[in-house]
Amino acid sequence: MKIAVVGTGYVGLVAGACFAESGNDVICADIDQRKIDMLNRGEIPIYEPGLEPLIESNVDAGRLSFTTDVPDAVRRSDVIFIAVGTPPGEDGSADLQYVLAVARTIGQSMQGEKVVITKSTVPVGTAKLVRETIESATDHPVHVCSNPEFLKEGAAIEDFMKPDRVVLGVDSEKAADTLRHLYSPFVRQGHQILIMDVPSAEITKYAANSMLATRISFMNSIAQLCEATGADVDAVRQGVGTDSRIGQSFLFPGIGYGGSCFPKDVKALARTMNELGADASILEAVDDLNDRQKRTLLDRLLRRVGPDLSGRTVAVWGLAFKPNTDDMREAPSLVTVEGLLEAGARVVAHDPVAVDEAREHHFGDRIEYAANNYDALEGADALVIHTEWHPYRRPDFQRMRAAMSTPIVFDGRNLYDPGVMSEQGFEYHSIGRPPVVPGGASPRHRMAAAGSGAADGDARSSNGLGRRTGAGAGSNPGPREAED
Ligand SMILES: NC(=O)c1ccc[n+]([C@@H]2O[C@H](COP(=O)([O-])OP(=O)(O)OC[C@H]3O[C@@H](n4cnc5c(N)ncnc54)[C@H](O)[C@@H]3O)[C@@H](O)[C@H]2O)c1
Repeated sequence: MKIAVVGTGYVGLVAGACFAESGNDVICADIDQRKIDMLNRGEIPIYEPGLEPLIESNVDAGRLSFTTDVPDAVRRSDVIFIAVGTPPGEDGSADLQYVLAVARTIGQSMQGEKVVITKSTVPVGTAKLVRETIESATDHPVHVCSNPEFLKEGAAIEDFMKPDRVVLGVDSEKAADTLRHLYSPFVRQGHQILIMDVPSAEITKYAANSMLATRISFMNSIAQLCEATGADVDAVRQGVGTDSRIGQSFLFPGIGYGGSCFPKDVKALARTMNELGADASILEAVDDLNDRQKRTLLDRLLRRVGPDLSGRTVAVWGLAFKPNTDDMREAPSLVTVEGLLEAGARVVAHDPVAVDEAREHHFGDRIEYAANNYDALEGADALVIHTEWHPYRRPDFQRMRAAMSTPIVFDGRNLYDPGVMSEQGFEYHSIGRPPVVPGGASPRHRMAAAGSGAADGDARSSNGLGRRTGAGAGSNPGPREAED
């Protein structure tokens, strides 16, 4: 099949490479000359595991090419995917200007029948707008479908190649046949292709992301209750998640969801619901809570270390909004680092892949960047952890403590066992678990009922207070799933 993918960001590039890998002729088109030049030089503009070799082999095989000539890509293809960005507008609604600009280009350039698919995340009713825009510029027949994308950055190739399901909103049998044919190589292991009407497909994407975001915000509010009472959110999470009606996924508390999707999609769905008279109060609460949760580490640190951080050094581990990506859009680290700078701190950050992104688009030279995570700790008065990168999960605690001037850790991802941290000589603050101070007996040996709850900034001797109990006590919580 001859395919054009318009927009070569995370979604377009991955979709284009994967469609080429299954034997199609794919042209990826973008108006960003710099991006296309990079791709034509064999450089990959984003960090996504496995993408580089996939692109290289398909370019070499002649199945994948890159261009800024969108009209030419449209003319040479039967099927056109729109995969451009849909960033939030001022009022939280999805900004459709890029999608509709592509629709205009398609209408003006097409010289025969086309199947056009919105892969961008777009509000219900957008396919209708795309159709009207195309049809206002051409008399050629067009099928306009919705095929929302569910891939996760960091695992995008795997998600695209082996999707849980493929959702297709179609307007004709011909479009359904074309897309079924295109996707059948990706569902050979029995996963479903769900064919539905176009508005249902458009809503499905927002509903899925908003459901996941709701679970995260819900668990973050439960974590707050655990903090207020001295309970352990890890135990609660396991107690809740083992209910087969609920399941374990997306129940990890943390410092709020970020990235290019959840924040904007929750806002956009709430906006659409308000416009159409549906009750959006759940989503508004999810969004508000998430904004506040992103300040958790900063507020704790300011309460514990003091509001004036002049002369203090704070180490930061993790800038990306989640592991295995360099994406920092809406990352909680943005909130913490800006707050630390405002309070006068010297900030030394480490991230395995997001440093270029941080330097170029966010912090410039206002912070320092360490070559490895231990270098970031030299002389630090505190460490803040934002991202659960693998190398942070089992660090050399002695080396950490020796490097830091004051061994205080604010962990937004619950990477470590509080008992172990106390034994290793750290004051340790995590999410939904009592803080601990150095030198106490291991919390795993402590009675569940001992002491009262420890509140924020009230790191007590773990002797009798910083306890962990029940499921997961004494063991590290283990890797979280890649969430948002
Ligand atoms: N990133 C994700 O994990 C993810 C997952 C699922 C769905 N989505 C959705 O997919 C869409 C794309 O997301 P992304 O993260 O790939 O965006 P992105 O910002 O990484 O890439 C968008 C690309 O579109 C290009 N573009 C803009 N206007 C154009 C035009 N008129 N013609 C050609 N190219 C144009 C931009 O130059 C850019 O390269 C969004 O709607 C997003 O919500 C993203």
